[in-house]
Amino acid sequence: MTDQYGRNIDYMRLSITDRCNLRCKYCMPEGITLTPHCEILTYEELLRVAAQAVALGVTKFKVTGGEPLVRKGCVGFVGQLKALPGVEQVTMTTNGLLLGEQLEGLVAAGLDAVNISLDTVNDEKYGKLTGYRGSALPRLMALLEQCVAIGMRTKVNVVLLEENQDELPELAAIAQHLPVDVRFIELMPIGYGASASGFSPDRALEQLKGCWPDLSPVSEKRGNGPAHYYASASLVGRIGFIDAVSHAFCADCNRVRLTSTGLLKPCLCYETSTDLKAVLRSGGSDADLREALRQAIYAKPRAHCFAQRDSITEQKGMSQIGG
Ligand code: GTP
Ligand code: 5AD
Ligand code: SF4
Repeated sequence: MTDQYGRNIDYMRLSITDRCNLRCKYCMPEGITLTPHCEILTYEELLRVAAQAVALGVTKFKVTGGEPLVRKGCVGFVGQLKALPGVEQVTMTTNGLLLGEQLEGLVAAGLDAVNISLDTVNDEKYGKLTGYRGSALPRLMALLEQCVAIGMRTKVNVVLLEENQDELPELAAIAQHLPVDVRFIELMPIGYGASASGFSPDRALEQLKGCWPDLSPVSEKRGNGPAHYYASASLVGRIGFIDAVSHAFCADCNRVRLTSTGLLKPCLCYETSTDLKAVLRSGGSDADLREALRQAIYAKPRAHCFAQRDSITEQKGMSQIGG
């Protein structure tokens, strides 16, 4: 359906848990309070919401967390979601640590693509940034190869941080060896991201042009999100940028978000939400659910307000929202 500004909303991000097996500083640092399990929507409830979203024209779903793969039964849920009549695409954003062991099941369930968050290719730095103890990088690099080998469409998400600004070429070089898209994401001042230090995507692009001088924009569609992409003859994958703060893309926004506690969020920037859990748990019918969704989607704000930080009303962290 279209919202009040005429944008076609056909994409929903479903956060299925606020839990994560990492503790990235800008997202979910140590000591964060977790939501009691009873507050998190059951898979049945998530599927009811998804079915009514489909009735309103949503055809693509992104499964997020926290880390979606820490929730038991995630593979089965992906299968059920994909099997809902009218669903065209189900994709997932994950930190990848549990993906290797669940990849086969996810492929069988019909997962269409995966985005893997990887902010550094330095094992020691990975530990510092994420709290992970041990050596994750060799496993994650092997995972990327495994994804490519089975034909899973794969992208890497790199949040531009003070800590990784010296290794952007190394991160981008993943797209030199493998047909995966490496996307550099501007840090957004949401949750703990507001107190982290980011790095400008324009400067990142300049730096990368120093390594791949023929890097040039491409207009091809490579997902359903706001990333814009660059190609080079020396790269098999693409380099992408998601620069929500410096180059707002709200005029083309196609999405709404459901938090793991059942809040339908029409825009990342604002606290305003519709409590679908209340509808679900007070005996609301599918028609009630659909009407609540319809009103929330219609009233989607025109744009975010990242430039005026005082106007950002969202208080939740990214792990509760799902990115
Ligand atoms: P695909 O390209 O289809 O895989 O989707 P995507 O890029 O939207 O998915 P992903 O979950 O990998 O998100 C990447 C980054 O983009 C995360 O940091 C998200 O928070 C951010 N993002 C996604 N959608 C929006 C949006 O509508 N607004 C803003 N400001 N950021 C977004
Ligand atoms: N700004 C930008 N991206 C963020 N992510 C988490 N927090 C932020 C933030 N404040 C990213 C994660 C993941 C995706 C879902 O969102 O790194 O790749
Ligand atoms: Fe977990 Fe992803 Fe948040 Fe890191 S960014 S804490 S991996 S949900």
